[in-house]
Amino acid sequence: MTDPGLIRYDGSNIANNFHWSCLSYDAVVKVSRSITRIKSEMESKSKRKIVYGHVVDVKRDKHGTAFFKEFRQGELEIGLDHKISYCGLRRTDCQSEVCDVYDFKDSLLMPSFSDIHLHFPQYEMIGSHGEDLLGWLNRYTFPIEMKYSDLKYAQSKAKQFVGDLVSVGTTSAAIYSSSHFESTNALLDACNSGGLRAVVGQVAMNRHAPDALLTKDLHDYEKHFSELFRKWHVDDGRLKLAVTPRFAPTCSDDLLNLCGQLLKGNPGAFLQTHFAETQAEIDWVQSLFPKSRDYLDVYETYDLCGVNSILGHGIHVTKSEMERLNQTRTAIAHCPSSNLFLGSGVMNWKQMREQNIRFALSTDIGAGTSICMWDIMGDAYKSQKLMGHTLTAADLFAASSIDGAEILFPEYQSFGFDVGARADFQVLNARKNRFLEERLGRNESIDEVIFGLIWSWTQSMVDAVFIDGDIRFESGKCK
Ligand code: GUN
Ligand code: FE
Repeated sequence: MTDPGLIRYDGSNIANNFHWSCLSYDAVVKVSRSITRIKSEMESKSKRKIVYGHVVDVKRDKHGTAFFKEFRQGELEIGLDHKISYCGLRRTDCQSEVCDVYDFKDSLLMPSFSDIHLHFPQYEMIGSHGEDLLGWLNRYTFPIEMKYSDLKYAQSKAKQFVGDLVSVGTTSAAIYSSSHFESTNALLDACNSGGLRAVVGQVAMNRHAPDALLTKDLHDYEKHFSELFRKWHVDDGRLKLAVTPRFAPTCSDDLLNLCGQLLKGNPGAFLQTHFAETQAEIDWVQSLFPKSRDYLDVYETYDLCGVNSILGHGIHVTKSEMERLNQTRTAIAHCPSSNLFLGSGVMNWKQMREQNIRFALSTDIGAGTSICMWDIMGDAYKSQKLMGHTLTAADLFAASSIDGAEILFPEYQSFGFDVGARADFQVLNARKNRFLEERLGRNESIDEVIFGLIWSWTQSMVDAVFIDGDIRFESGKCK
């Protein structure tokens, strides 16, 4: 007999159509409980959601300046389409027959994070000591990435990785997998079950790395990309594929050419790679591609720049490269934690803004030392301060949330708590943070409070994380 627990409520009256006589008493009880549960889930899915709390949204004005908008006794409404349908002051109580109510009291409701550059297999090697970029890749990174040829291993790591991202409030990300098809598929699978919005790519390399990580036959990368694209990529959905040549030094002209073709031939696909992270890397690129006028020219030659392209770092860039990044609308993933850790340099935030180049913050795990965007904001603030540039809390928060989401999912059009935005947000309990509670108690401005939060955030403060209006993390656990 079919397991009664597997019966699904499809809107028809199962109880009337079902042949109860074929089941034991226990099974009947189980079926009826299961129907009640599924019915209430269905009813719940057909209700709007009302979420109460201290709403803190982040926006940009017409000059691009970021600012917070808060409603201390605030309310978010999530429509049946999983999008924000109201953000503002708390209204009169909604009747529970027509909506589900979540009352988070005075906890902060804030847009969730977007991390536009990190490496799945490197999560386990955060804090590998003491090398610059090229030494660090050879000594630590490549050996770790080889372990991801083992599917079982990759599967267990992927689930943990996605769970940890969501638990710190990150709900969208652009992720490098390893060079393996199976581990990339496992990562996409984990993103899918964990609800994470993700742009994912299998790393492509065919030189200057250990044999076990190289794509020997270019047709294999093409085949793997196409298969993953067909299986997972959904326009206007949660998952997308990225063509992912690691960086110019580990790719031949043929491989870069193939990447350009894959990008062009698969509308909606992304391109992610590394660019101008250290001077030694730039010198190496110049010697490997002597005909190129600069580093960016290598990627431009193979049509790898554009609105769906994300280049990691962009620290040591020329004036001309800046102009071309702007012209092609290519985005930069700014990774201050990684840049400090490897001693790569500091990206020029002020100039990037002035040149109107699209960029957002990212962890770059595992050269970056934290998976949590609050820590990355702290590293961005300190490193920009050394450059003589003082960032505001709103600058930092926007670059960690709405800016990244807009780069990865421009088709959504609305972000943060704008009406029509996907209901992705985090709930932070100020009462679990004495430091923050005191600041709120002193009636400090929301900018001061959020700036303080950058240095005092703890995991235990995260009451809940919502994606598409559903709770995906609550009370220390992923759902
Ligand atoms: N450049 C090429 N590969 C990598 C990588 O894995 N991490 C960083 N930070 N830079 C790179
Ligand atoms: Fe990286």
